[in-house]
Amino acid sequence: MGKPSLTAVIMAAGKSTRMKSRVPKPLHLLCGKPLLSYLLDSCKSAGVARIIVVVGHEAERVQQAFGGQCEFALQEEQLGTGHAVMSAKPLLEGYQGDLLVLPGDSPLIDSDTLCKLVEYHRKNGAAATLLSAIFPHEAGMYGRVLRDSRGKVLGIVEAKDATSEQLALREINTSIYCFHAPALFDALQEVRPDNAQGEYYLTDVIGLFTHRGDKVEALVADDWQVALGVNTRVELADVASRLRWRILHNLMLSGVTIVDPANTYIDADVQIGQDTTVHPNTYILGNTVIGEECEIGPMARIEDSHIGNGTKVLASQVVESRLGDGVRVGPFANLRPGTVVGNGAKIGDFVEVKNAVIGENVSMAHLTYVGDAHIGANTNIGAGTITCNYDGKRKHRTVIGEGCFIGSHATLIAPVEIGDGAYVAAASAITEDVPPDSLAIARCRQAVKEGWAKRRREQSSSEG
Ligand code: UD1
Ligand code: CA
Repeated sequence: MGKPSLTAVIMAAGKSTRMKSRVPKPLHLLCGKPLLSYLLDSCKSAGVARIIVVVGHEAERVQQAFGGQCEFALQEEQLGTGHAVMSAKPLLEGYQGDLLVLPGDSPLIDSDTLCKLVEYHRKNGAAATLLSAIFPHEAGMYGRVLRDSRGKVLGIVEAKDATSEQLALREINTSIYCFHAPALFDALQEVRPDNAQGEYYLTDVIGLFTHRGDKVEALVADDWQVALGVNTRVELADVASRLRWRILHNLMLSGVTIVDPANTYIDADVQIGQDTTVHPNTYILGNTVIGEECEIGPMARIEDSHIGNGTKVLASQVVESRLGDGVRVGPFANLRPGTVVGNGAKIGDFVEVKNAVIGENVSMAHLTYVGDAHIGANTNIGAGTITCNYDGKRKHRTVIGEGCFIGSHATLIAPVEIGDGAYVAAASAITEDVPPDSLAIARCRQAVKEGWAKRRREQSSSEG
């Protein structure tokens, strides 16, 4: 027989007043992903079959961002965490199983801990099991877990309602629980907002259960950091740095060298192959995939891009681009969206590329702009070459064949096509197509006036 089904309710309706933001808290980004998506991911990998997110403040924006990933319950007025869970009740009519309840603002919770919590709850046959954590320092505004002298859980007291003695406790409520659903909804009916904040506290159900003699358990998390919530932007930065460390740690264990983890920023969904080295001051963001044996950075920024094996990106920006194997980029190159670079190509300093296909082994080593273009394999683009793609109204394409030689400072005025194997003389302004294997020169002939400078100098000294 398979495991009994599991449903989760994530509370994400709060006003997030302490964030001081127009952006609802579930949408604030950590390592490239919205806060709430971390909780959705952990629930999904813990095997949760049904996820209900309670929304309220900016409900439409939150629903739009996570549509299709979960169900939503609306908490019209935000009257507290107990009230938030109550708002999900209509969606759970007749549900007799276990209910995981999580706050929407604790992104460090991992699926292993959730699985352990559910297992512990089921093994003990408890009505409620809360996940607690023991802080290594004073526990700030977290709710404190109260136990009797034998260690039995008595209830939870919120920091704002606690005595100084209770505030000294370091075992805190993570706000992650596993409940027997019918018992939870039964107890929630009895919760009253008679506390410092005038809210319906979910935490009160723990005391209600123990009072009734229902079995309450607490599992202490192996890693206290899973409890960390995001209430302010200070906590957002703190939690993000812990997530970042987790990402870097996993990459290093999988065979990626991170030279200086304190100065490397890699988003949650980035994939990097074995024996790639990431140098300091580097950002690898979004849906980026990097192959094996690459050298990335120092000072690279790579976003939503795909990079092959053995490629080097030094002090450059690469956005929405695809680079093949053995490509060299930088220093100081800017590869903008739609750039596709073939194997073995070299893109050097002060080169900007946009919406262009650069063939295999192409070399454009310095000071070039290539936009809306196609460059065939083995072509050399001289320093200072510019594709003039914009006529003030529309963009036009430049097509350069294979094995071409484009001399330095060429100006290619699109639409224009250079045939395979053709040469373009340095400093040419090319406005017409160049046939294959030909040479195009489009510049004034040089005139030399012998003795001219000398005469001028003599003239000016006689005048003076
Ligand atoms: C809560 C717990 C506290 C625990 C801490 C852990 C209560 C009363 N307190 O405090 O014991 O130590 O989490 O992080 O439960 N929310 C709603 N609707 C509401 C109110 C809140 O959906 O009416 C949501 C919020 O959006 C948030 C979550 O519930 O995601 C927790 O609310 P928050 O106000 O942040 O509670 P804490 O003060 O952190
Ligand atoms: Ca919180």
